[in-house]
Amino acid sequence: MLVTRQKTLRRFWYPVMPVGKVEAGPQPFTLLGEKIVVWKAADGDVVALADRCPHRSAALSLGWVDGNAIVCPYHGWSYDGSGTCVRVPQRPESNGLKGRVVPSFPCTVRYGHVWVALGEPLAPIPDWPEEDDASYRRIDQFYETWRCAGLRLMENSFDNAHIHFVHRDTFGDIDNPDPPQPAIERLPYGFVARSDVPVYNNELQKKNLRDDSAVTIRHITARWYMPFLRRLHIRYPSGLDHIIVTAATPIADDRCQVVQFCFRSDSEADAPARDIIAFDRRVTEEDRAVLESTDFDVPLDMNSGVERHMPSDQPGLLMRRMLIELLAAHGESEHTRHDAGRATQEQKSSS
Ligand code: FES
Ligand code: CO
Repeated sequence: MLVTRQKTLRRFWYPVMPVGKVEAGPQPFTLLGEKIVVWKAADGDVVALADRCPHRSAALSLGWVDGNAIVCPYHGWSYDGSGTCVRVPQRPESNGLKGRVVPSFPCTVRYGHVWVALGEPLAPIPDWPEEDDASYRRIDQFYETWRCAGLRLMENSFDNAHIHFVHRDTFGDIDNPDPPQPAIERLPYGFVARSDVPVYNNELQKKNLRDDSAVTIRHITARWYMPFLRRLHIRYPSGLDHIIVTAATPIADDRCQVVQFCFRSDSEADAPARDIIAFDRRVTEEDRAVLESTDFDVPLDMNSGVERHMPSDQPGLLMRRMLIELLAAHGESEHTRHDAGRATQEQKSSS
């Protein structure tokens, strides 16, 4: 699947950046190949517009905010949050131009991040009660570009079999390669997978968990939110909650922006945020090294013969199936980079 060619994927919310970034001025981002500018108006609204001035196509993200308008850096035309041109400085008496001349996109702030959709969203941003619960803290962990498809990262989160190989140096056990498989329950626009996975504690993790045991059973409740968002709720036997939210926001076919934060039920005195980030950093780097070697054109069609499967691949296979169904429900089929070749072949055989 080439994500930039699937229109239906434009109709989901994606976290694009920590809200702190827009405090510093207009910020560019590329979402599903669409260049956007995210900026904060004087009235506090955070908005997203196409990052292209309709005068001579300059990037608005190079401009600045003036009151409730963004000013183009090239000749100073100004646009409000709806994309209406409110000022042409060379023709001040005109009060701008008629109509919304710059496309605008749904944009909101949740969980300390700016979320954008490129069309009418099909599903809401999930409600996670920990955000407003004083017994939890939110720790912002990662904001970085990975050279892989978002779907690879999603599938990886639900793949218990990778733990003992990819994470053999942090919490896996390569001598126990066949872990328990999750029980999966399908939900609208996603699923929940529950499993109890034995993991092995290194020294930093023993400290973070305040648990000296060599092996801990993680009770994992993992939610997949279509298409590229997951929430991994790990409950340790001590009752400690470590809830990781990871988005693989699609930038282009071969790249995604990893946005990760976590909720913890312990305090800074129990486990400093920097130690928690350090452990998750190591684990994440282990995943990244392998995932960036994978093909970004993930085949949704399980019978394409491009990939082989095993029983523990069930969550990833369900993702593929649900994505095919989603596309079909919106009149789309899967686009892959083999489309062009196939079209030429069909042309040849019909001529
Ligand atoms: Fe934006 Fe001229 S290109 S005002
Ligand atoms: Co992993």
